[in-house]
Amino acid sequence: MSLDLRYPALSDLKARARSRMPDFVWEYLVSATGTEAVVPRNRAGLDRVLLSPAILEGAVAPDLGQTLLGREVSVPFGVGPVGMSGLMWPGAEAILARFCAAQRLPYCLSTVAAAAPEDVGGLAGDMGWFQLYPPKDPGIRRDILRRARDAGFHTLIFTADVPGPSRRERQLRAQLTIPPRVTARMLAQVAQRPAWALGMARAGMPRLKLMESYAQASGPTGSTGHVGYQLRAAPDWAYLAETLAEWDGPVVLKGVLRAQDAARARAEGVAAVWVSNHGGRQFEGSPASIDVLPAVRAAVGPEYPVIFDGGVESGLDILRACALGADFVMLGRGWHYALGALGAAGPDHLLHILREDLAANMVQMAINRVAEAGRRLGLQTPPPDV
Ligand SMILES: Cc1cc2nc3c(=O)[nH]c(=O)nc-3n(C[C@H](O)[C@H](O)[C@H](O)COP(=O)(O)O)c2cc1C
Repeated sequence: MSLDLRYPALSDLKARARSRMPDFVWEYLVSATGTEAVVPRNRAGLDRVLLSPAILEGAVAPDLGQTLLGREVSVPFGVGPVGMSGLMWPGAEAILARFCAAQRLPYCLSTVAAAAPEDVGGLAGDMGWFQLYPPKDPGIRRDILRRARDAGFHTLIFTADVPGPSRRERQLRAQLTIPPRVTARMLAQVAQRPAWALGMARAGMPRLKLMESYAQASGPTGSTGHVGYQLRAAPDWAYLAETLAEWDGPVVLKGVLRAQDAARARAEGVAAVWVSNHGGRQFEGSPASIDVLPAVRAAVGPEYPVIFDGGVESGLDILRACALGADFVMLGRGWHYALGALGAAGPDHLLHILREDLAANMVQMAINRVAEAGRRLGLQTPPPDV
């Protein structure tokens, strides 16, 4: 039976991933902070965006490609940074980097991934973005930037929305530490997930590889206090300016939710802003990221690149974000649901699902490019609930 018949939507991949990942891994992937209200808020925000269908406009031929930050990409969406990606599925970073190079979509490697820049930079070809959690020590920062550059990453993502650790109550309930300290309970969960266990036995238990290369005598760590947090700064605009001066290439500011921050980022020389509430993992009080997108777009003007993430599950969601001002859309969890469901074949199938759904919805709106979606917004949305 074809994959389309068995897993027609991301929700099908998510359900299968749930049955193939150990519980503590699943809890890490899906968790948010507090009551996790931001997750349904992101979903509700996207659902409120209604788009006018067009009739009697003849045939269109959707073209999903575009130039993003100086490079040709095949679709208006990519793979966002996910810490400990290799915990969700064995070898996830290498699988996703190879997939992105082959299919021409950006692959963003996290500072706290299970693979170091040197491990996957070559695999990502010219699709490699590196995400920085700002280290306190400028020497470490410079060394990380040099390593990322030398490994072939050309675009730097500066994540600004983690000034400190958040409480992830769900992860605490699952007794998860990062990197995982294996308990009898976890071993029992692993025993029920043979494909994951076998892959991990081959790949080795994931570690925070890049961060650990800078940890000398890091003291004991709690569930939210791993070495990544110990090394990290709560950055300010001066810190960002130093990073801009040290990176030879585009820098994108991730975690922007306020129009004034977007306008200032542009003025400071940031190449693009990335509207995100970190999938609800940092601050339960934050608005749905889709709800702030129009104000951010208005603040930076029509030509400046805006990237978006937060709860995207379909091609229609991608179109909704583009209609409200995004040039490009990222998914974080979705790619990992695909890996959990189908292993290395997962990302290709998710790409197929998203591409088909996006093109089908563009035909309903009679547009050839996602950039045209804004002009067809039409049916206005009720005010947000936040
Ligand atoms: C398990 C997990 C780990 C993440 N780790 C990082 C990270 O290391 N750096 C970062 O900038 N964002 C990180 N994020 C946030 C994602 O990049 C993204 O902003 C968020 O997941 C929203 O997208 P989604 O709703 O498609 O998952 C992480 C998200 C998840 C789910």
